[in-house]
Amino acid sequence: MLDALRELETKAQAELQSASDSQALQGWNQRYLGRKGALAPFFLQLRDLPREERPLAGQTLNQVKQALTAALEERQEALKAGERAASMAAEAIDVTLPGRAPSLGRLHPSTATLRRIYAIFADMGFQVYRAPDVETDMVNFELLNIPPHHPARDMWDTFYTTREGVLLRTHTSPGQIRAMREYCPEPIRVILPGMCYRYEQVTARSEMMFYQVEGLAVGKNITMTDLKGVMAEYASRMFGEGRTMRFRASHFPFTEPSVEVDMDCILCGGEGCRVCKYTGWLEISGAGMVHPVVLRNGGYDPQVYSGFAFGMGVERPAMLMHGVTDIRYFFGNDLRFLGQF
Ligand code: DAH
Repeated sequence: MLDALRELETKAQAELQSASDSQALQGWNQRYLGRKGALAPFFLQLRDLPREERPLAGQTLNQVKQALTAALEERQEALKAGERAASMAAEAIDVTLPGRAPSLGRLHPSTATLRRIYAIFADMGFQVYRAPDVETDMVNFELLNIPPHHPARDMWDTFYTTREGVLLRTHTSPGQIRAMREYCPEPIRVILPGMCYRYEQVTARSEMMFYQVEGLAVGKNITMTDLKGVMAEYASRMFGEGRTMRFRASHFPFTEPSVEVDMDCILCGGEGCRVCKYTGWLEISGAGMVHPVVLRNGGYDPQVYSGFAFGMGVERPAMLMHGVTDIRYFFGNDLRFLGQF
């Protein structure tokens, strides 16, 4: 019996060493130590042994059982440690690696340009006045001296809402009416920035939405000279010192007289190039003296008060300054474009 026992132990130990997962260990446990395992019959045999052999056999049997139980526990521990080590190796983190830099957001080129414009006009005493994008036909057109069927409406076709007479503003000029009605009879010096909308074909030079900045000054004794000084100061600070300006006669229903403000081309300085279409001039703004009808619609007596106004694009100067050739990039939401500024 003792020999058989030793043989069993050797075999069991060998099998245990080659068990490589917890399932194999469980099987091994059943096969050797379980109630119906290989060791169980030896305990039954004890009874049949001659009395004097029993103590030694019993002792040996218990030793073998203890040894196998201990070996099982040891093997279980070793397997667990191995699994832990493997999972640590698999999920290892190199804490000495440099972190990934978070990508920083930045200002949209239109916003950046708007902020430069605000700063320049703030220095001249103009404050920002906000007016709504969704306007009424009355304020966007009629109070600006553009009655229904006026031919000027052709260049300001827009998007209409399902509510009669409510539309997306085609320019920032309706904000003039709102500012005047709020401040009347105080003097006014405001700029009105914001998005404008037009129902027109989208091309490299025109979008159906774009920013404008409107300017409005109302008070006593305001003349065209003031307009010119303000425009010249703006152009010099925005595009570089010593710019040459010119006022070109034009027409807007809400100003009288009306002008287009041009400055010498920032690329060729007036020589003539592709950017200025070989004229030497770049148009920067529409402007003029506020029409008496508009002053009256804002609540000001045109016999006592006068004012100037201007309205300019934002994307166009941004295009000039950054050499952008297509206005559609501004609202195309392409990070490859936006990330460059
Ligand atoms: N509202 C005009 C436009 O969108 C621009 C403009 C011209 C605004 C003359 C003015 C102005 O205030 O005086 O084309």
